[in-house]
Amino acid sequence: MLDANGFNGWADAYDNEVRTSEENDEYPFAGYNEVLGLIEQLVVGKTGRTVLDIGFGTAVLTRKLYDKGCKIYGQDFSTSMIEIAQKKMPKAELFCGDMSDGLVPELCRNKYDSIIATYSIHHLSDDGKIDFIKQLLPLLNENGSIFIGDVLFKTRAELEACRSDAGEAWDEDEIYVVVDELKKHLSNVIFHKITFCSGVIEIKAY
Ligand SMILES: C[S@@+](CC[C@H](N)C(=O)[O-])C[C@H]1O[C@@H](n2cnc3c(N)ncnc32)[C@H](O)[C@@H]1O
Repeated sequence: MLDANGFNGWADAYDNEVRTSEENDEYPFAGYNEVLGLIEQLVVGKTGRTVLDIGFGTAVLTRKLYDKGCKIYGQDFSTSMIEIAQKKMPKAELFCGDMSDGLVPELCRNKYDSIIATYSIHHLSDDGKIDFIKQLLPLLNENGSIFIGDVLFKTRAELEACRSDAGEAWDEDEIYVVVDELKKHLSNVIFHKITFCSGVIEIKAY
């Protein structure tokens, strides 16, 4: 599993590596732009524009939301990613913190219309994801939603088929969501499949 130093080292090359994988329609980033595009559309479609991004990275999506007038908050554990993102979004409130320890206290004081996490939540264990999502849900405004875009699968069988096809490219350190399994722990889950290995989950406020 990449730690904060690993992501610091990846920060400058990240956008190019994603582009190559996306253009070749390969695991893990096949459908990346479509995943981010759908979340952008769903976030902008909300009446409120206060957004929290977990693991914002180089701010590919967050910057678009910032430019459209959203108030951006974020948490990431890589200081290099934060530096890149802060330059693109000078007024965003970005904090350094490991999501496996939960949300930093400064971000627990606000309410959000959208909480987004793209290609980041797979760094948590399955139980860790459920606990973290349960910590985030009370921070949503009425009609708010959590949007997770990632390598994810409807069923365990689909995940195993992708693992088999990916061969050595499969990242054993990343723990991908299986939607049918997530639904056993959370209600109000809507799944939008994008490609053989990607999709978007919306979890609406209770
Ligand atoms: C693959 S990048 C995704 C970046 C961006 N959201 C995107 O869609 O391009 C994963 C991001 O999550 C951050 N991250 C990974 N594990 C984390 C953790 N445990 N706590 C906080 N941030 C984490 C990394 O630093 C990195 O910026």
